[in-house]
Amino acid sequence: MKQPVRIAVTGAAGNISYSLLFKIASGELLGKDQPIILQLLEVEDSMERLKGVAMELEDCAFNLLHEISLHSNPNTAFAGAHYAFLIGAKPRGKGMERADLLMANAKIFSEQGKALNNYANPDIKALVVGNPANTNCLILSRNAPDINPNQFSAMTRLDHNRTTGLLANKLAINPEDIDGLCVWGNHSATMYPDIHNAIAYDSHDIIDLVDYAWYQEELIAKIQQRGAEIIQQRGLSSAASAAQAAIDQMRDWILGSDDRLVSMGVMSDGSYGIAEGIYYSFPVVCRFGRYEIIQDISINNFGTDMMKATENELLEEKQLIEHLLPKETEDNYKKVFVQDNDGSNLENFYYRANKI
Ligand code: NAD
Ligand code: LMR
Repeated sequence: MKQPVRIAVTGAAGNISYSLLFKIASGELLGKDQPIILQLLEVEDSMERLKGVAMELEDCAFNLLHEISLHSNPNTAFAGAHYAFLIGAKPRGKGMERADLLMANAKIFSEQGKALNNYANPDIKALVVGNPANTNCLILSRNAPDINPNQFSAMTRLDHNRTTGLLANKLAINPEDIDGLCVWGNHSATMYPDIHNAIAYDSHDIIDLVDYAWYQEELIAKIQQRGAEIIQQRGLSSAASAAQAAIDQMRDWILGSDDRLVSMGVMSDGSYGIAEGIYYSFPVVCRFGRYEIIQDISINNFGTDMMKATENELLEEKQLIEHLLPKETEDNYKKVFVQDNDGSNLENFYYRANKI
């Protein structure tokens, strides 16, 4: 029997967690042979609600669920954690943009970055779901200087799944028969869903199967506005689909994406000319617990403009929260990039060892 792993979830009494926790406990994340310990974090005012969720988890009698602990302090919630889902944050309401949450949520991620740095397992993988996810991820990572920036990622898998789902419906094929699409940039209204390199059934170019005007004028806008549309319809932001995307992104990251291309918000290393030091959604393949940005995607002029617009938005967001980014971490970042570009993970090990 494998040893249990520790999974921390913040915002554990919220809507997304109400779906996510049961998926994790049933083995959807790590498989049916991996026991888990859940370390759940909430704000003081929601601890009673959290107890109710813990009771329901217990009532499911999940074989894999070894232990549940409830926390209102991030230091204890992240203690020894191997994986963390950072969901706890305010969601937007009708008529808001995700960036409107920046100031309200930024403080949470700066505090939780410090807690991860000091108390989590050094090999932690942390997925940021709380909006605005990309910039929150940057704040989190910069406040955790002893953890490699590559161990953080922002959730853009929901946008990737949405694009796959809508395309599959349009073409009347199964989502699993589509590969090669990706979503670039910010999880916001500027994101760029790119289907130029997508294929169906391993051979057919999807761009030739759909009407280009439909793609450019309808599909892109639909994906960019899908979150807002759901809020309009439901009165609440997406929750079950967000939980599914969180499972998909983290599972692929940990166990591998089976050579399939997926989208992840990861620290830019300058690939495709995107500014270093922001969390930007790139096409990646995951293997052996690491993601690799795919380098040979061809981009047309339309794509270049779209990628630039979403990059500029992220740089503007970064400027707004610059005061929450500890200055001394910038040099550490550069060190990691140089080493990663060489493909040398050994150097990354020295990076961390030297810091300790
Ligand atoms: P929710 O309001 O139902 O739940 C959020 C929970 O977080 C609440 O229970 C709240 O008490 C808790 N919380 C707030 N501050 C906290 C803190 N400092 N520590 C721990 N817990 C804290 O919201 P939700 O629907 O679960 O959404 C959560 C976040 O995820 C929102 O910011 C939402 O916009 C975002 N989201 C992102 C994506 C994505 O694709 N990246 C998709 C859907 C939702
Ligand atoms: C989504 O894309 O559904 C989430 O980011 C929630 C939102 O505010 O749109």
